[in-house]
Amino acid sequence: MKRILTIGSALLSAAVAFAQAPQLNKNNIDEVVKAMTLEEKITLVVGANRFVGDENGPGPAPGMPERRSVDMTGLVEKPKSDGVTAFSSGRVKGAAGDVVPVERLGITTMVLADGPAGLRIDATRPGDENTYYCTAFPIGSLLSASWDPELTQRVTTAMGSEVLEYGADVLLAPAMNIHRNPLCGRNFEYYSEDPLLAGKIAAAYVKGVQSNGVGTSVKHFAANSQETLRNGQNASVSERALREIYLKGFEIVVKEAQPWTIMSSYNKINGVLASENRWLITDVLRGEWGFKGFVMTDWWAEENGARQIAAGNDMLMPGTPHQYADILAAVESGRLDIRFLDDCVRRILQVMVASPTFNRYEYSNKPDLAAHAALTREAASQGMVLLKNGNALPLAKKRKVALFGVPSYDTMVGGSGSGYVNRAYKVTVDEGLEAAGFRLDKELAASYREYVKAEKAKQPAEYFWIIPTVEETVIGPAEAEAAARRNDVCIYSIGRMAGEGGDRTLTPGDWYLSKTEETNLDVLCEAFHKAGKKVIVLLNMGNIVDMSWSSKPDAILHTWMDGQEAGNSVADVLSGKVSPSGKLPMTIAKHYEDYSSAKDFPMSNGNPGDVNYDEDIFVGYRHFDRYPETILYPFGFGLSYTSFEYSGLKAEKSGDALQISVKVTNTGKCSGREVVQIYVGAPEGNAVKPVKELRAFGKTAELKPKESEVLTMTVKLSDLRRFDAYEREWKLDKGEYVVSAAASSQDIRENVTVTL
Ligand code: BGC
Repeated sequence: MKRILTIGSALLSAAVAFAQAPQLNKNNIDEVVKAMTLEEKITLVVGANRFVGDENGPGPAPGMPERRSVDMTGLVEKPKSDGVTAFSSGRVKGAAGDVVPVERLGITTMVLADGPAGLRIDATRPGDENTYYCTAFPIGSLLSASWDPELTQRVTTAMGSEVLEYGADVLLAPAMNIHRNPLCGRNFEYYSEDPLLAGKIAAAYVKGVQSNGVGTSVKHFAANSQETLRNGQNASVSERALREIYLKGFEIVVKEAQPWTIMSSYNKINGVLASENRWLITDVLRGEWGFKGFVMTDWWAEENGARQIAAGNDMLMPGTPHQYADILAAVESGRLDIRFLDDCVRRILQVMVASPTFNRYEYSNKPDLAAHAALTREAASQGMVLLKNGNALPLAKKRKVALFGVPSYDTMVGGSGSGYVNRAYKVTVDEGLEAAGFRLDKELAASYREYVKAEKAKQPAEYFWIIPTVEETVIGPAEAEAAARRNDVCIYSIGRMAGEGGDRTLTPGDWYLSKTEETNLDVLCEAFHKAGKKVIVLLNMGNIVDMSWSSKPDAILHTWMDGQEAGNSVADVLSGKVSPSGKLPMTIAKHYEDYSSAKDFPMSNGNPGDVNYDEDIFVGYRHFDRYPETILYPFGFGLSYTSFEYSGLKAEKSGDALQISVKVTNTGKCSGREVVQIYVGAPEGNAVKPVKELRAFGKTAELKPKESEVLTMTVKLSDLRRFDAYEREWKLDKGEYVVSAAASSQDIRENVTVTL
């Protein structure tokens, strides 16, 4: 009897506590924070994965430990033995992280899922016949190569609707670190060597996704320029380079698009981990830029949970028991003032009340995949860059094509790692060309298809960490000559896979062409040129390779990684249905050694963990403008099937901005779009400065022959400032500013000067 009474009164007091507990809504966040126990607060800031032990989860991918610590004595990253290795397995299978709900107070979960090229969740679920495929959209570098924020926003509006309809709350994207060096393994996810281009594309990306009422997580904040020793390497970088280059893009996104969340990066910046860096997260991001959302760590980035919270890094993902214990001990001992934790909790709740899960959105699990496939086909064709064209392209349909190269038949449509997407299918280049009406050499196609199939059968299935690629085959002179006799033209694809967790290498087969690729190219050029026929090279990769061979073929089209409709997008451009209008978001130098970071990548002086950003602000074209003789294809370069003339450049000061306009006329024979870049060269002042910097850009609509469009752009005077490292403030130098309208960083069409 006594026992029944005790249980009864316990239930009663629990019920009273529950009834009295405020239930979270958008107007009572402070009240809810007040009602939370210390344990509940920590529960909210530490992700759900702390409940998942080794034995429950899938564990790390082979050779790719998910949980890492850095062995600073060598280039080895070792998995910690104490740890949790699984992704959390929440409501949306395959999502990267879940927030732990506090039901007593009406605090719900939030589902966080990758990634930049589309939502990454599991396509199938045990015991469930339905499928949950997502659209593999074009990769980041292709979006920036389109120089088209409007197109980007359309793509990510579609992407965001998949996030919403599959029940997730926050997409862990866009990824927007600067292409400091062409060998960074994740450059394919990132946008550019230039922060304005990266920032504008990322802002459009965020607006598109968030227009669905779901969030984004702009990553990886900041100076996360490599994968080698990514969890602990220290970027030694000046404040000026941070402000003008590495933080600038993030600043643009925050001010223009207010992302719901930001993801801090794994690396250290000048000795302090980004996730523990209060200057970065609290003073700059929130204080100076006015960021209103919450900050989460990158996955497993932990050293000291309490220090992360004190820095203003609100959420620790995916969450470990160790982080929970760490914060609890720190608050109890007085080492961490609870007000830091309260701030984090408040900021998370402010985002949560807008989220679909909190608002009980009834998701359909049925996004419009057909419409999104059509959009991805269109988008990819807008970002391809025509690097060379000696009267080889466009190709009339019905032409007989000798299609060589393994990536023509096993096209790489995206990179590996968290940027992978579980798509329903991919269209390879051979399939796309055939569907468009080209006549592929049957014998050749059959032998490649057979080879690819046989090789694939020996390989493990594609998995997000690992996308196996098939080795290139050797093309013999006799084979090439026979193909040259039978066909009108030769297309040869060169492909490179890249992904999270490792940088690319300065070796044949990666940065350089492999011996096989080199001889194949020679053999094909020799045979087809002898027969008076053209050779077209397709680059199928997320970034760039050494191109010292570029004089050999007649045409080179950089197709990037186009997403699941790749082959169709490539066919649209090769056939001339779409005139190429992409331009390079990075410089292709003559030699790797010409890049300003070459000697300090992936580490300085052979010193594991330390990377000196000695090139300072001279990254990309800011460096190459001083050494133009080292450029092969400049930043901003890309050909079209038509030609454009620029005229009437005007730059007028009006209030606190420059109003810039320039007329672009299609002077060629087919329709096309043109990307115009506005560079500004600033007066010397008392600082070393780049020759010029990209300050605005615009893209025309599709112009018919003889048609013109006046592009207008605004540049705020404050965006012409430089960061004065000594006085630690932005300064606008007085004097003459040269405003240029350019077709690439090396092709200035018109200049005007403005005195400020
Ligand atoms: C990556 C992030 C990603 C996260 C969750 C990390 O390894 O660096 O970009 O969002 O995993 O998958």
